[in-house]
Amino acid sequence: MSIAPALPRRFVARGPLTGRIRVPGDKSISHRSIMLGALAVGETRVAGLLEGEDVMATAAAMRAMGAQIERQANGDWVVAGVGVGGLLQPAGALDMGNSGTSTRLLLGLVASHALTVCFTGDASLSRRPMGRVIGPLSEVGAAFTAYPGGRLPLIITGAQTPVPITYRLPVASAQVKSAVLLAGLNTPGVTTVIEPVPTRDHSERMLHGFGADLTVETDDHGARVIRLTGQPELRPQTITVPGDPSSAAFFVVAALIVPGSDVVVENVGLNPTRAALFDVLRAMGGQIAELNPRTVGGEPVADLHVRASALHGITVDPAVVPAMVDEFPVLFVAAALAEGRTVTSGLDELRVKESDRITAMREALTRAGAQVTERADGLIIEGSGGRLLPGTDDRAITTHLDHRIAMAMAVAGLASERGVLIDDTRPIATSFPAFEALLAATGAL
Ligand code: S3P
Repeated sequence: MSIAPALPRRFVARGPLTGRIRVPGDKSISHRSIMLGALAVGETRVAGLLEGEDVMATAAAMRAMGAQIERQANGDWVVAGVGVGGLLQPAGALDMGNSGTSTRLLLGLVASHALTVCFTGDASLSRRPMGRVIGPLSEVGAAFTAYPGGRLPLIITGAQTPVPITYRLPVASAQVKSAVLLAGLNTPGVTTVIEPVPTRDHSERMLHGFGADLTVETDDHGARVIRLTGQPELRPQTITVPGDPSSAAFFVVAALIVPGSDVVVENVGLNPTRAALFDVLRAMGGQIAELNPRTVGGEPVADLHVRASALHGITVDPAVVPAMVDEFPVLFVAAALAEGRTVTSGLDELRVKESDRITAMREALTRAGAQVTERADGLIIEGSGGRLLPGTDDRAITTHLDHRIAMAMAVAGLASERGVLIDDTRPIATSFPAFEALLAATGAL
């Protein structure tokens, strides 16, 4: 990635989005299906796996630690696991690319295996804080040598005799929760995670599905208390990965703001810990109907019928942030086209994603001609009232190796006069390799 030249592109709408498209598999669920499949004894079969760079980094790491992972001719993936506690010493460093989820969850897995593993990543990942997992995993008994500030590159030596911990999450983070639970898999006794603010629950659902002894209760203060009994025998599963709501989000917003659009986005995962964006967009006046609701791989799924809509600004309740934490870049784009003011707050976590998404989106949208004010924990956006944004001149906006900044600003380009020039589209492949092709299939590109 670092040696290949950047791939700039100007995004401008050729027409409305129409027809039916299908979004690729959920990134969070794809990572977890590879990891848990690699710890089960026997063959796990995964249909609909997201074949993005982030998930491939997880697959390469699990292979390096002993699992067999192969793509079948029909597109399914088969994972032959090593059993809980069976991970092997990898021969070299594990390159996590751009993927925070791979890094933090795998650190959890390694923490309770007596292995020494070096984790590396790209420039974006090497800026992201790992202290949030180093803390609890040190309590489990793992030892760390990290770059200053608790960053990658990092060497972890897992515990010989891991200790079950009780950990109260100081930040609303599914990655931290999952790292502690995954460490608990090869730890004797009961590992407990207390989650004051609920975050995506794919790890809990999937651990349960693989046969782990896991309970979830709500305590007197409304916090979720998750208890995992260590050293289960995980049973291989057949998994169908639902479509990623975080990928669908770009098409839903594009259809709302590009005049004349009328599109069905099929196979969208609507787990309530993930789907808040669609409720927020409806509250802004977005016409989004759920068709054919069903269950796929134990997760609620529907097809979303979206029509271009006159949006109005709102104040977004910070309580919904964890359930749409990855969707703010594209929500900001919707807000830039809405009538009136949109106020967001409680977004501190956005500053430590693949980029600082608050500053990156303020800069990018401002360059495209939107009116944006940055606060410490959010953005305030004065919308255009449905008028196209002016777009950018020949200076490309900077995506900071962040796929979601690139895709959000591509969507902004579709609702602009001159289009939006993006400095580099390569990061899109981390989560959504087919993004531009699918956009073209709707007629928008
Ligand atoms: C993820 C959790 C979220 C999210 C990320 C995927 C996961 O991160 O932003 O894209 O799969 O657990 P945090 O746990 O840091 O909020």
